[in-house]
Amino acid sequence: MRRAAAIGVAVAALAAVYASAKQGAPRSGLPARFGLGRAAAAAEIKAWDIDVMPDGDGLPPGSGTPAGGAKIYARKCAACHGPSGTEGPFDRLVGRDRAPVRTIGNYWPYATTLYDYIHRAMPLAAPGSLTPDEVYSLVAYLLWRNEIIGETAVIDARTLPRVAMPARDRFVVDDRRGGPEIR
Ligand code: HEC
Repeated sequence: MRRAAAIGVAVAALAAVYASAKQGAPRSGLPARFGLGRAAAAAEIKAWDIDVMPDGDGLPPGSGTPAGGAKIYARKCAACHGPSGTEGPFDRLVGRDRAPVRTIGNYWPYATTLYDYIHRAMPLAAPGSLTPDEVYSLVAYLLWRNEIIGETAVIDARTLPRVAMPARDRFVVDDRRGGPEIR
């Protein structure tokens, strides 16, 4: 009974959408087929286009150093990842030993992914809130803490893709074409 009522509500909602769509013709080209919505503006697409590739494609202008990142880390990250990146309570970020915990220093194959991930997902409660300089600084700080770059290194769109990660060779490219799932 309750399910039938829910379906009724859904149908009514769809009918309302359809009726309102019929009133106005679509404003621009696509998606005319449904009589709904409008084409996304270039600025809107740009705001979503934040991915950074392993080779550094997509990295924005800006830069940062471990010292600058240390201050931001203490304020915005330490509560969840620990004062030195090893204590938690959430994911451990620092460490070169292979087992048992995965860290940036023992598991991440590309340094550029750090930029992508921190920018898109951290801090947990305010993803996307960090400026490019802040993200570069945090990346520099975490790479330094993992003993991958020196304390005075400057991290930017040119230097970050050149950082060789310790875990880089622990991954193999899956170049199979068909065949068994496990080799
Ligand atoms: C409120 C808690 C919280 C705060 C604050 C926070 N993080 Fe996180 N962080 C998490 C959690 C939880 C995860 C695991 C997310 C998942 O697995 O989906 C995570 C994952 C990560 C990872 C990936 C770890 C891995 O190896 O998979 C990185 C890198 C990271 N955080 C960096 C940061 C940085 C830099 C900041 C500060 C700007 C920050 N975090 C602030 C909770 C937090």
